[in-house]
Amino acid sequence: MHKINIGLTDEQRHGVMNLLNQDLADAYVLLVKTKKYHWDVVGPQFRTLHQLWEEHYKKLTENIDEIAERIRTLGGYPTGTMEGFLSLATLKEHSGEIPTATGMVTQLVEDHEQVIRNLRNHVDRCSEEFHDQGSADFLTELMEEHEQIAWMLRSFIEGQALEPNGKQQSTETKVPVGV
Ligand SMILES: [Fe+2]
Repeated sequence: MHKINIGLTDEQRHGVMNLLNQDLADAYVLLVKTKKYHWDVVGPQFRTLHQLWEEHYKKLTENIDEIAERIRTLGGYPTGTMEGFLSLATLKEHSGEIPTATGMVTQLVEDHEQVIRNLRNHVDRCSEEFHDQGSADFLTELMEEHEQIAWMLRSFIEGQALEPNGKQQSTETKVPVGV
């Protein structure tokens, strides 16, 4: 077998692949949660959210494939079992709950934000700890996509100002206003 020789040590490659496998697992959990909400959502925003989540799960499916193939590019094998994904993922499932439409959006905002925080940390580690600029660049682009999705979802609940339980949100938080 040809020994991989791309300027990274085995330790560096394995370090990066561990991060990528965690990102892959979280993307899979987020894919399943997004599909479930696409199926279950009800209410006046049904059509918008149903369609938006279809776009999101298609994007997540593409990303999952790219993360897995990036692991192959580095000479490793991606996790490919539900058991493996659940053991590596940082996101939590909420079995047996069907939230309101607002509750679903809130949950997905929080999940995307957690993925963004993980990716930001992984970008730094790929670059500084493992000297793999290619993976840092790859994960930066992925992070930007989640940032855009989180913004779109956040915009739903900001206008509505409702908590998942239907109560009015506090409006104390001031946000900078552009001129
Ligand atoms: Fe569908």
